[in-house]
Amino acid sequence: MKVAIGCDHTGVALKRALIKRVLVGYTIIDLGTDLPEPVDYPDIAKRVSSAIAAGEAKRGILICGTGIGMAMAAGKMAGIRAATCMEPYSAEMSRRHNDANILCLGARVIGVEMAEKITETWLTTPFEGGKHARRVDKIG
Ligand code: RB5
Repeated sequence: MKVAIGCDHTGVALKRALIKRVLVGYTIIDLGTDLPEPVDYPDIAKRVSSAIAAGEAKRGILICGTGIGMAMAAGKMAGIRAATCMEPYSAEMSRRHNDANILCLGARVIGVEMAEKITETWLTTPFEGGKHARRVDKIG
């Protein structure tokens, strides 16, 4: 599976940790940033959302300080369902019921191990479809 990943300056270390320890075996499209200099999270959200919308990647991961700004920005693009998840249950349900195609994480809120567990859960949980597909279609 192709996964596009991006972060602002607050998420560089977490992005590196996820690439090294969780995204092994996935084809990764890393859309930055890799620098400590501040960048505007909507710019990074747009890069990852565009990659999903264009079919260049199936799923996306966005990291900022809280995971909130990234989700707000990413969700503006047609076809993007971005979920901010702080723990694995929400990550699982965002896949099972909402077919989330972008996971947003808050590097200033959760620890690396929690982020790894959330990401692992989110990447491996399928969408249930059925009545949930009808509801997801209504979001569109
Ligand atoms: C950057 O200071 C911070 O505002 C950003 O990473 C993010 O948390 C916004 O939602």
